[in-house]
Amino acid sequence: MASFNILRAAAAELYVTDLERSRHFYVDVLGFVETEKTKEALYLRGVEEFLHHSLVLRKGPRPALGAISFRLASADELPKAEAFFREKGLPFRWQEGDGVKGDSLLTVDPMGFPVEYFFEMAHVASELREFHHHRGGAPMRLDHFNLQVPDVEEAYRWYRQALGFRLSEYTETDDRPPRLWAAWLFRKPNVHDVALMQGPKTRLHHVGFWVPEPSRILAACDILAAAGHHHAIERGPGRHGISNAFFLYLRDPDGHRIEFYTGDYSTLDPDLPPRGWKLHDPRRQTYWGAPAPQSWFEEGTDILES
Ligand SMILES: [Fe+2]
Repeated sequence: MASFNILRAAAAELYVTDLERSRHFYVDVLGFVETEKTKEALYLRGVEEFLHHSLVLRKGPRPALGAISFRLASADELPKAEAFFREKGLPFRWQEGDGVKGDSLLTVDPMGFPVEYFFEMAHVASELREFHHHRGGAPMRLDHFNLQVPDVEEAYRWYRQALGFRLSEYTETDDRPPRLWAAWLFRKPNVHDVALMQGPKTRLHHVGFWVPEPSRILAACDILAAAGHHHAIERGPGRHGISNAFFLYLRDPDGHRIEFYTGDYSTLDPDLPPRGWKLHDPRRQTYWGAPAPQSWFEEGTDILES
């Protein structure tokens, strides 16, 4: 088991090519809360979040993933994380606190993902009960990362055995014996903090944000269409078989994929049996049977400098 305690998926850093265009899409249309804007970056959060940010959109030469971030259970876990990465012989470096975020550890995992671990972050006021400010889909909080990897079994072992995540659901192939094709893994007690999915290379597939209810997803679709952003709607709305969640997939102005997600279930009980799905069952992706578009399988966000 892991020698340090991960609390949850907490933040993502995405490189975008036009900050103002991204600000309009995420804040004005989708309803993210803007905490801070600088010349280089936009710091956004969900409506209920009290930490400074869960999404950093950083100006860059091309769309890319900067890092995904996990929050640790306390600041005491950071040196344990450092010892763990040192023992594994994996790259890491300390990032000094900047007044918003405390000291953090930036690592590269065995699949090649840049992963940051932190605990301290400045508090801001939650907008949860400020209903008169809620807009678009009113995204509440970051829920999960979906990562594409060429070898799901390797990534599964890393998250399950090395980092101590638990398994809620999985997809396996029809081969004999079956191969693991995708896995939903969690630290916080809902379906996932990380989904691992078979893909052509190591890249970010999407970042999932929890929304309060399915009606908010339908409202977001109407708002996107009315504002001329109908092309951003890639898949859904629909109901996932896996996770049971109601979903919508969007592509931002740089092509990054964002999911609005609501209605999964508690995974708190330690004896929760993981639920398996067969790859050929269309209900695993969309419970109503509608297939996902090819772009959903073929496109994603590359890691910066890869
Ligand atoms: Fe997702």
